[in-house]
Order: sequence, then structure tokens, then C-alpha cells
Amino acid sequence: MKRQDVEDIEIKLLLEGIFQVHGYDFREYAEASIRRRLTQWLQCSGFGSFSEAQAHVLRDHELFNCLLDGITVNVSEMFRDPLFFKAMREDVVPHLKTYPFIKIWVAGCAAGEEAYSLAILLCEEGLEGHYRIYATDINEKTLKQAADGIYPIEKIQQFTQSYQKAGGKRDFADYYTARYDSAILAQKLKNNIVFASHNLTVDAGIGEMHMVLCRNLLIYFKAALKERVLALFDGSLANGGFLCLGVKETLSGRGIAGRYMEMAQGMRIYRKQYV
Ligand SMILES: C[S@@+](CC[C@H](N)C(=O)[O-])C[C@H]1O[C@@H](n2cnc3c(N)ncnc32)[C@H](O)[C@@H]1O
Repeated sequence: MKRQDVEDIEIKLLLEGIFQVHGYDFREYAEASIRRRLTQWLQCSGFGSFSEAQAHVLRDHELFNCLLDGITVNVSEMFRDPLFFKAMREDVVPHLKTYPFIKIWVAGCAAGEEAYSLAILLCEEGLEGHYRIYATDINEKTLKQAADGIYPIEKIQQFTQSYQKAGGKRDFADYYTARYDSAILAQKLKNNIVFASHNLTVDAGIGEMHMVLCRNLLIYFKAALKERVLALFDGSLANGGFLCLGVKETLSGRGIAGRYMEMAQGMRIYRKQYV
């Protein structure tokens, strides 16, 4: 048997063990990407093989958390894909304004960049105090960073450019305070966001949302898991609600597609039809 075939078996066993012991289910993540992430982690871990690592990962919670950090891709930016946020402002916000109170779920929120971008946009559109954002992720470490709302100052230039491209109405500097090498986001942005741990592979949905954002996460899932998670979002969305995916993700060909209409062309913003 080739070395790669043995490794594939070891990875399968490791993921099964992680599910059984820690309750995190990575068994239906896209193979190439999870293999790449695990291999990178193994190289830094000091273990000679996945089999050797397995016994320790299953017994040592801290080591498992390190592995979890290695598996999840937590890259994000404020106003990532600025044209998406521009379309949200122009095409979706007018509908959101018709509700007395808006509930939004940001699934896979990483360190909070997307949730805070949304909070800025909603405040600028006069919706301050009329919304709550539930921002969830499986990675506790990034959730803590998200709740702190503190980013390296060197990221601010890019955040500012994206904010402007997304149709920002003010000076981005109004939203943070610079301190040494950090930018601390304004407290008022944090007031209406709840950051919480939630695992899309095993947990139930969150009910009666007006909008669900899950961008740049489904690409890491195999087809069957994508279907299950999309069905979870469908069950969480009120009729007339909005489902937003990443630019490389689509509803086309998925089971729930028939109940949704694409809003802004190519922006992956879908509206659930009234039945
Ligand atoms: C690439 S980031 C995307 C962040 C943000 N949505 C964006 O588009 O910039 C993917 C996030 O999904 C989270 N994630 C991965 N698997 C998950 C799962 N099963 N349930 C919830 N979050 C998950 C990761 O921890 C990571 O923070």
C-alpha cells in the first residue's frame, strides 16, 4: 500500500476518533483541503504520523484545540468582497427596513470582521437599535477575538479601502480607536452582536431569522454536508428572508434552490419566497 493510502486511512480514523471523543464532525469536509490542513498541523506538531498523534489528540483537550485551530480556516476581512456589501446596502436593506426588528445569523463569523461590517452598514442606514446579529463559529479562540473587536492596525488600510468601495458613508476612522499596534472597534458596534459557539455539522439551526450569512465556509464541505447545512439555514429563515453565500458558492443545483430567488446578479444574495 502506498504511503498516501495509509495516511488517508489514518486521517479517516483520526477524524472518526475526534467525532466520537470531542463531538466535532470533520468527516464530511472536502478531502483535499482537510488533508492539507492536517498535514501542515502534523509537520508543526512534532508527531511522526497521524497514528502517533491520534492517541494524544483524543486524550488531551488542549492539544485538540490546537488541532482545531489548524483545521479551521479563519481568514476574513472587514467588508470582504465590497461589492457584496454594496449590493446588500442597495438591494437588501430597503426590505430589512420594513421589519420592526431584524434578526441576523452570521454563521462561520471567524474573528467577527463580517458581523462588525454588517453592524456598521446597518447603523449607517438608520437601523441602529433595530437589529440583533447572532455571530457563531466553532473556533473558540477566534470567537474570543471577535468579542474583543480588536484588530492589528496594519489591517486598517485595507479595511478602509473596502469600506469605501462598499459605499461607506462616513470616515472609517469614526469606528475605531488606534492604540499602539491595534485598532479597537467602537463599543456601539458591539452592543447588538451576540458571539456564540455553534457547530453547523452537529447543532440545530437558530429560528426565525430575517437574514443568514454564511460566506466562504460551504466551500470546505462535501456536497452532502452542503445540502444539510443549507437545509438548516432554510429552516432558520422566515419567508421573505435573505440567504447570503460567498462569491464562490451557489444555491444553483441544491435542494432548496427552488424556494429562493437570486437578488443582485452574481452577489450570491438569495431571497426565500413567500409560499
Ligand atoms: C474562511 S472563514 C470565513 C469567515 C467569514 N464568513 C468570511 O467570509 O470572511 C470560515 C469560518 O468558518 C468556521 N467554521 C468551520 N467549520 C465550521 C462549522 N462546522 N461550524 C461553524 N463554523 C465553522 C471557521 O472556524 C472559520 O472561522
